[in-house]
Amino acid sequence: MLQDVTSDIYHLLHPKMVFFVTSIDKSGKPNVMTCAWATPVSEEPPIVIVCISKESYTAELIRQTKEFVINIPTKKLLKALWTCGKTSGRDTDKFRKAGLKIMDAKKVGPPAVAGCAGYIECKLWKTVDAGECHVFFGKVLSAYADEIYVEKGLWKGNAEIPLHLGGSRIVYFR
Ligand SMILES: Cc1cc2nc3c(=O)[nH]c(=O)nc-3n(C[C@H](O)[C@H](O)[C@H](O)COP(=O)(O)O)c2cc1C
Repeated sequence: MLQDVTSDIYHLLHPKMVFFVTSIDKSGKPNVMTCAWATPVSEEPPIVIVCISKESYTAELIRQTKEFVINIPTKKLLKALWTCGKTSGRDTDKFRKAGLKIMDAKKVGPPAVAGCAGYIECKLWKTVDAGECHVFFGKVLSAYADEIYVEKGLWKGNAEIPLHLGGSRIVYFR
């Protein structure tokens, strides 16, 4: 028998990789949030999208300074993922609260989160209004990953990258 899941429609498209998005304000102060809604949309040129609530501080900062970094964590950073997904940078220094270390990005202003398995640095190319979210299209300026976890550009599985199922449920890519 088929069950009606209309009110949970997006869960059918999970699990999704869950990662940190880093951004900065005009004075250079960084913020970090947890995000699961993202996908590549073009290879040539390389473009990815992140779907971010219009009300979040991150969306405000990306609209202002037009750059962001996708930071793909390992299982070790799971606790920080929840912290950065449950509090706002408007009133909290989440790097401090989550015990995250900052690392300079290579080509954009927002810093990266040290200790992640992979990084995608983006310059804002286009913004689309989609319900409660802004869909930010990022032109990829630089992408790199820890050689411990990748081989010929593919995840090896040993990073145990968190995948969000929905709610508080996480599974791991192995
Ligand atoms: C597992 C998980 C996944 C999330 N995915 C998204 C997402 O894809 N888009 C989004 O706008 N918020 C997402 N959130 C919620 C934001 O991380 C949350 O609203 C955060 O407080 C925003 O922080 P900011 O105001 O500092 O930008 C997610 C939270 C968690 C815990």
